[in-house]
Amino acid sequence: MKITTDIHAAVQALKNGNLVAFATETVYGLGADARNPTAIKKVFVAKGRPIDHPLIIHVGSIQQISDWACDIPDSAWQLAKEFWPGGLTLILKKRADVADLITAGQESVAIRIPNHPLTLNLLQEFGSGLVGPSANKYGHVSPTTAAHVLQDLKDSEGLILDGGPCNVGIESTIINLLEAEPVIMRQGAISITAISKVLRHPIAIATAQVTLKTSGSHASHYAPHTPAFVLPLNAILQQVATYLQQNQPCSVLSFSKKPANISSNISWQTVPHEPQQYVRELYANLRQHDQLQSSAILIEAVPQTVEWAAIANRLTRASFKK
Ligand code: TXA
Ligand code: MG
Repeated sequence: MKITTDIHAAVQALKNGNLVAFATETVYGLGADARNPTAIKKVFVAKGRPIDHPLIIHVGSIQQISDWACDIPDSAWQLAKEFWPGGLTLILKKRADVADLITAGQESVAIRIPNHPLTLNLLQEFGSGLVGPSANKYGHVSPTTAAHVLQDLKDSEGLILDGGPCNVGIESTIINLLEAEPVIMRQGAISITAISKVLRHPIAIATAQVTLKTSGSHASHYAPHTPAFVLPLNAILQQVATYLQQNQPCSVLSFSKKPANISSNISWQTVPHEPQQYVRELYANLRQHDQLQSSAILIEAVPQTVEWAAIANRLTRASFKK
């Protein structure tokens, strides 16, 4: 892939059935014309993604929901008006003419408007929907810069429309509106508290099994290649001592500063205490430490509060061991 800022070239590439990775506020997406099955297939090939994983359709205006979904409940319009453009993906009943490749043959379709000026321009100029999974290799950490996309997809053909680093840094929240009671399928950019306020009732989170299926059928996902472990600080310090004894390099992401007695063999990074700042940097941090040839990435456990819930979910997935 090739990095560019030329939006007209990007629109042309999409119209020609080629891939264009695009910036969003959450993470970079790997875009293709959602009306062109040959183009959509290229997304699966480039990512190495199993064909039974459905794709989100990105659109440029709220009215375009009706181009892809039918029997749209009031709650969908309410949520779209409140949170779009933004990090909320709605699962709705699909229209009959939506390609099976997009929905993995299901009756539902996932839709959102991303909040990024360059990509909103792209969508408006393109005029139709773009499928857009995160622009990483299947199972790997999602990309939050154009350079991250290039790291994963350099061998694929297409363009990367560079919109700078992503502001939010975690994938969209996915809400299923197919049943009478909405259900959160993936926690993410928009908080469940904010969604409950708009719908005026508490919202259930799908059971672990269902949520895992939604965002990748393997528990391991969003994962660096280096083994990652989520631990309390005292356990990290014990581990670090062991790695030091064995003369093995390791990486640490901690809220605390590097203790003075720890040698330079340890790549210690102090991470923000505030969840929005923390998550803006998280994927870049994981990718950076992944390149250091460390024996392990030790990540300090985050607080068990609602503000950290989506982040805790990603850390569990990043550190899952089979
Ligand atoms: O923030 C985001 O959502 C990013 C940016 C690029 O928009 N996209 C993203 O896409 O994270 P992806 O494909 O990496 O994750 C989307 C998840 C997938 O795990 C997929 O299983 C689920 O959405 N999904 C898509 N369509 C679905 C459907 N019809 N029913 C249930 N889950 C669906
Ligand atoms: Mg993904």
